[in-house]
Amino acid sequence: MGYRVAVVGATGAVGREILTTLAERAFPVDDLAALASERSAGAQVSFGEDDVVGVQDLAKFDFKGVDIVLSSPGAKVSAEHSPRAAKAGAVVIDNTSCFRMDPDVPLVVPEVNPDAIAGYTRRRIIANPNCSTIQMVVALAPLHEIARIKRIVVATYQSTSGSGKDAMDELFNQTRGVFVNDPIRPERFPKQIAFNVIPQIDVFMDDGATREEWKMAAETKKILDAKIKLSATCVRVPVFIGHAEAVNVEFEAPISVQAARAALHEAPGVSVVDHRVEEGYVTPAECAGEDAVFVSRIRADATVEHGLSLWVVSDNLRKGAALNAVQIAERLAQDYLG
Ligand SMILES: NC(=O)c1ccc[n+]([C@@H]2O[C@H](COP(=O)([O-])OP(=O)(O)OC[C@H]3O[C@@H](n4cnc5c(N)ncnc54)[C@H](OP(=O)(O)O)[C@@H]3O)[C@@H](O)[C@H]2O)c1
Repeated sequence: MGYRVAVVGATGAVGREILTTLAERAFPVDDLAALASERSAGAQVSFGEDDVVGVQDLAKFDFKGVDIVLSSPGAKVSAEHSPRAAKAGAVVIDNTSCFRMDPDVPLVVPEVNPDAIAGYTRRRIIANPNCSTIQMVVALAPLHEIARIKRIVVATYQSTSGSGKDAMDELFNQTRGVFVNDPIRPERFPKQIAFNVIPQIDVFMDDGATREEWKMAAETKKILDAKIKLSATCVRVPVFIGHAEAVNVEFEAPISVQAARAALHEAPGVSVVDHRVEEGYVTPAECAGEDAVFVSRIRADATVEHGLSLWVVSDNLRKGAALNAVQIAERLAQDYLG
């Protein structure tokens, strides 16, 4: 038996990847609706190698009879339409930041807290975490099992696709513009992104952190352990796809590099590439299109009692968004919807 599925934000960077992932993983789709703004109504999007689907206007769409909605149209749009879809009887897997910290909405990374999915019954909404949080908790959950994490200090190197399709175009156009001496006019980013790095993702909060940095701390607590302290610096870099993170972790108990590496080798969704030679690590350019969270540069941090440092890289559109959402849909279908 298949499901009636709607993809909201189907023309976007995440929505297109969701369509690809559903097709690649042969998710049992009986009927598919591709939804976006009225600007895109009538356009077509690809579904797998051979199929195309016509795009419909979200505002006019009736969700009655839809089983599962995978939604990524931005937080404001989700705030209105995800509850509307849930009220019509669908279960919504929402990629935006809108519902993540709602206590009645589970925030799920299937490799880490799959049992939280059961909480979907409260609002019929399941939230997909922020891209930078997902890849970090996939890499850290197996280590937390062994030695309990006390504190994390993380610096991110986040690609432009994390801000959507227009942001990728801005990197492309500015890069070309630099070579032909065109004036640089930042639109999606607060400063020039070509040949630059920007230590601001999302808006500033009262304590001086950005909202992206706050999200990493709050979401890690909700998914992994409320006791974990986390300090993040989130940086946008001129990369199209793939987020990298330099992660420093302080544990409660001893954990050797060998034990960490062994645990990560066994961990679902993780690929360890860690040879202490040139090219013995993964970079964002190599992870695009891949499902895994890659862990490299595992080493002891002797400046604290029980410390490790790691380099974590993943495709933000795949595991950081579409793949995680589709994995939730698979679990939901298998364990709860029958
Ligand atoms: N990119 C990532 O790595 C990532 C990871 C995790 C979560 N997210 C979240 O996912 C969401 C979308 O991100 P994205 O990167 O896919 O952005 P995007 O490339 O800009 O795409 C936005 C999508 O939303 C649709 N949309 C915009 N306004 C709409 C409206 N009023 N009604 C219906 N549809 C509307 C757009 O349709 P049109 O084409 O018709 O405008 C498009 O399909 C954001 O909330 C983002 O925070 C992104």
